[in-house]
Amino acid sequence: MKVHIKSSLNLKAKTACLVVALKPLKKISSQQSELNAASDKLIDRLQDKDLFSAKQGEVTVVSAPAGLEVDHLVLLGTGAERTLGTEETREVLSRLARKLKVMGVDDATLELAALISKSDAETVARHLVEAVGDAGYTYVKTPKAYEHKKPGKDIKLSLCAADRKQAALLKQGSNVGQAIDSGKTLAKDLGNMPGNVCTPTYLANQAKKLGRSHGLKVKILNEKEMGELGMGSLLSVSKGSREPAKLIVMEYFGAKNKKDSPHALVGKGLTFDAGGISLKPGPKMDEMKYDMCGAASVFGTMLAIAEMKLPINVVGVVPSSENLPDGLANKPGDVVTSMAGRTIEILNTDAEGRLILCDALTYTERFKPKSVIDIATLTGAVIVALGHQTAGVMGNDQEVVDAVLEAGEQSLDFAWQLPIKDTYKRQLKSDYADLANIGGPSAGTITAACFLSYFAENFKWAHLDIAGTAWGGAAGKRASGRAVPILTQYLLNQK
Ligand code: BES
Ligand code: MN
Ligand code: ZN
Repeated sequence: MKVHIKSSLNLKAKTACLVVALKPLKKISSQQSELNAASDKLIDRLQDKDLFSAKQGEVTVVSAPAGLEVDHLVLLGTGAERTLGTEETREVLSRLARKLKVMGVDDATLELAALISKSDAETVARHLVEAVGDAGYTYVKTPKAYEHKKPGKDIKLSLCAADRKQAALLKQGSNVGQAIDSGKTLAKDLGNMPGNVCTPTYLANQAKKLGRSHGLKVKILNEKEMGELGMGSLLSVSKGSREPAKLIVMEYFGAKNKKDSPHALVGKGLTFDAGGISLKPGPKMDEMKYDMCGAASVFGTMLAIAEMKLPINVVGVVPSSENLPDGLANKPGDVVTSMAGRTIEILNTDAEGRLILCDALTYTERFKPKSVIDIATLTGAVIVALGHQTAGVMGNDQEVVDAVLEAGEQSLDFAWQLPIKDTYKRQLKSDYADLANIGGPSAGTITAACFLSYFAENFKWAHLDIAGTAWGGAAGKRASGRAVPILTQYLLNQK
């Protein structure tokens, strides 16, 4: 996607498609009198015939309009200013983007001043770019084709700015939008890939590739190295699979001082979760290929911050494994020893995410991180609680949790806090080890976070449960690219 900022709407300039946002005024055309006059009062005629009244998200297309040079004129309704918050603005832009996609437009000039009311120009530009990226995304079906993926038909957007100050904001917003779009696209591609292609080894190779293209320092730990570090919990999960586990470490150095302590992102990279011996039911089991969307969010966010050249240091840590039933797989009742030395009784082998994350969290201590956020498709319970709309967030440091919540509001990649309290932690008591890996049927999302909290005692930490938001919902059977926006925003706010 190419984005240009233009000085102001020039009706003589050549463009395939002209998009004009309009408020529902009594006389709509008064906002664009020149355009109205040039097109033989088209806006008035549409309004008189009730063919366009500028309702929120209304999109009216007039092709080959008389008096104008353009192929298509697209009128976009903003609805009443009073009801036009940032979320509604994004919805309006999504409708526009989907329409442009259906029309096959590859060059559009956009005059969106009417949308820039409660949200500023920067926000509008950013969500426009994200919406066009989402609408234009297609998954390349065969793995071979993915390797040789050429950028699809590139759309060119020209945004009209009212003045120089607004031009700077539009530029800033579209830059951030483009970086987030790149990150989301990578996260979607990895999430949508089948489990037999996107294995731990595949993810490790993708990390190396990302390292080469974007100057990240990448280190991959194999099972032997993880064994030497004592990662008995992580390795117990991968024992039941023939695909070797990997611990992927990606370091981005953007700060002046390479030695500045980094912010850390730790992403669950379970490339297929059958449940193990506590086997999942058959229907929809295919969806467990999405169980590496936490990892995919880390990959996408590393890409986004590298594209933006954020002036901070960030380390991404991805424990990656499969979870399958096998003669060597974990059995209910097995006791394993984590890298931190805590013993864990595995009462349900399907609660495997926390088993790989706990060792990855302990490993992350060595970076002396300023903050740690782990991101995981950890519990089905979070979908019951918050649906596919909102991620669950919990943590041991309210400032970090608040920063994550705030980043969610800013990026429209929302999260909601659930409590971590000792009364929930008690549910993890085990008769045979320091901790059980499940906390019973109630408060599943919270007890999962409580489990992780025992391995996050030495840093400021927040945990994002994205089992609902990373895929499905309005996106259908598809990865959404979340949590790239909230994580990228969190890091943007740290600079
Ligand atoms: N990957 C799943 C969580 C999940 C479920 C993600 C549905 C997306 C959709 C996780 O490993 C899991 O199986 N969790 C169990 C935990 C339970 C055994 C305590 C769950 O949520 O059922
Ligand atoms: Mn599971
Ligand atoms: Zn899982």
